[in-house]
Amino acid sequence: MGIELVKLRKTFNGHAAIECLDVSVGAGEMLVLLGPSGCGKTTTMRCVAGLENPDSGRVEIGGRTVFDDRTGVNVPINQRNTGMVFQSYAIWPHMTVAENVAFPLVMARCSRGEIDARVKEILSLVGLDGFADRGASYMSGGQMQRVALARSLVSRPAVLLFDEPLSNLDARLRDHLRVQLREIQTRLAITSVYVTHDQREALAVADRIAVMRRGSILQIDDPVSIYTNPRTRTVADFLGYSNIFPASEGRVAGAGFEVALAGGHRLVASRAPASPAGALFACVRPEDLRVRAAETSARCAVNAIAGEVLLGSFMGNYIQYRVRVAGGAVWDAFDPDIANRVAIGERVTMEVPPENVLLLPE
Ligand SMILES: Nc1ncnc2c1ncn2[C@@H]1O[C@H](COP(=O)(O)OP(=O)(O)O)[C@@H](O)[C@H]1O
Ligand SMILES: [Mg+2]
Repeated sequence: MGIELVKLRKTFNGHAAIECLDVSVGAGEMLVLLGPSGCGKTTTMRCVAGLENPDSGRVEIGGRTVFDDRTGVNVPINQRNTGMVFQSYAIWPHMTVAENVAFPLVMARCSRGEIDARVKEILSLVGLDGFADRGASYMSGGQMQRVALARSLVSRPAVLLFDEPLSNLDARLRDHLRVQLREIQTRLAITSVYVTHDQREALAVADRIAVMRRGSILQIDDPVSIYTNPRTRTVADFLGYSNIFPASEGRVAGAGFEVALAGGHRLVASRAPASPAGALFACVRPEDLRVRAAETSARCAVNAIAGEVLLGSFMGNYIQYRVRVAGGAVWDAFDPDIANRVAIGERVTMEVPPENVLLLPE
């Protein structure tokens, strides 16, 4: 029961919200659409669900064509067999938990006996045993979202669509519910598309991540591959490489490839850029930088960048530094060495191994 989107395009008032989108989601797979606000994530979901009519292209769910502009096929929402969970829970406050969850089955005219059995089973699945008769308005945000999940699952949909389901919850609850969502999705092996703008959330729940920008998919890969091997600086930026600087004068240097940054800094990357033509950017993740007081660092270390600490925030298991280097650029560095932390205003050297420097095109 996979999903296929083929050359999907949707415009609003002449502006393309999604453009020539090609993506397939395998049976039982959780595909995450990750991208900034306005890049077309929700529009993509709505096209799958049937809430939006694409201008052109094809949508298949479980091998069945539900939309095709060439043949005029357009299966209505209620016959696409999709479940949806949104950021706003869309729970009816005047109904009980059980009534909310039962609603799709009531609409489908299932028998009372079947409804009761299914609702009980699904409430237990989402960890809401004992809440059936509670008024929905007395539930917390996290519980509401579990009611919404239960309601989306109760009619045994072929696919589940999550649109920023955790965005309204506080950080701790979000982490907790994220694990639960993933656990339930894996247990049911239900094909899912999950939309988020949160990089950490994407990495945590995805089988594969599609990074989107301006209505197109830039890169699609499993979490580890996309995190370690973003192919462009835009994708890298989205995956937490917050130090991204224009690089020039690339040349082979020993076993690596050396570039120059503004301010006279030089960086060596272990891998040469895939294509040396065009603009190049050096990308470094803050957690790959080590920050040492200038006088204690090894003088001849490769990739030692001198700077001054602007800010050092204690984050529990690391110090989050902001370091200004010659030329004025500011770097982020997360260093777990709390015992040897460096004070604001001190001169430091940041070091990064060549294998953690990526040279990427725009
Ligand atoms: N109903 C609509 N009418 C007009 N423009 C829309 C409509 N829905 C979405 N858009 C536009 O399409 C683009 C993509 O929106 P959306 O899919 O909601 O992005 P995302 O979910 O990634 O934030 C945006 O520029 C948005 O303004
Ligand atoms: Mg959206």
